[in-house]
Amino acid sequence: MPDTILFEKAGGLAWVTLNRPRTLNAINMRMRDELWDAALAVRDDPDVRVVIFKGAGERAFSAGADISEFGTAPSYVESRRARRQRDLWGLILSLEKPLIAALHGYALGAGIELALCCDLRIASDDARLGLPEVGLGYIPSAGGTQTLPRHVPPGVAMQMVLTGDPIDAATALRYGLVQRVVPRERLYEEAESLARTLMSRGPLALRLAKRAVLEGLELPLAQGLALERRLAQRALIPFRR
Ligand code: COA
Repeated sequence: MPDTILFEKAGGLAWVTLNRPRTLNAINMRMRDELWDAALAVRDDPDVRVVIFKGAGERAFSAGADISEFGTAPSYVESRRARRQRDLWGLILSLEKPLIAALHGYALGAGIELALCCDLRIASDDARLGLPEVGLGYIPSAGGTQTLPRHVPPGVAMQMVLTGDPIDAATALRYGLVQRVVPRERLYEEAESLARTLMSRGPLALRLAKRAVLEGLELPLAQGLALERRLAQRALIPFRR
């Protein structure tokens, strides 16, 4: 069986490809495990400076969790335990390096939730983004109910979570869910160009700036400013040598 995740490195840039194109890159348990390994490689490999997530095939970044596996875990308790032991989305959110999601076609459920764990999202004009879980009698559980309202206005997040209806790329751009929309044939070129811009910046500065923004979002302004002051001091350390 081919790997469900492809991990390729080229000059500081890591491409992580969701690789189950025949099922629209649905995220099954095996892909979760391989994504976990890829996230650890990103965390631990000093050669990796920036990451781009993408989906294999023409039709989707990912159509979400593999619905054919729903209800197949040995027991509810077992599947809860597996999730606690391996908090994949928590691990990706904790990565200090900049993460870019390059979205085309369907980006649904855990697919868009993975992209919401990234720092920047670039979409092709054919992208359709949504959280269809409620239509299955379920709720988003790869962080979407929490991450989405941190990126788009709460009313927009509520509309997407409660209706489950997908939005198109232009609408996602208007809401700020993606930062750029490009023609399909230029998606990876544009994502790579963005990654190269980031790689031309100081790695320590990028890491500290990412941390300042993400941790600061959880803090009252005064504490956020104090955090920024602490991190800015750390950014100065290389200049003192
Ligand atoms: N899990 C498992 N398999 C999936 C899948 C998913 N989330 N999404 C798509 N697939 C599979 C289909 O079963 C189909 O497999 P088959 O060719 O063996 O029958 C293949 O991918 C192609 O999908 P298909 O449904 O035929 O394409 P479509 O163009 O008619 O519809 C979607 C595309 C995305 C609208 C539709 O596949 C869909 O609604 N998928 C489920 C999305 C979802 O609910 N995700 C969240 C889960 S919590």
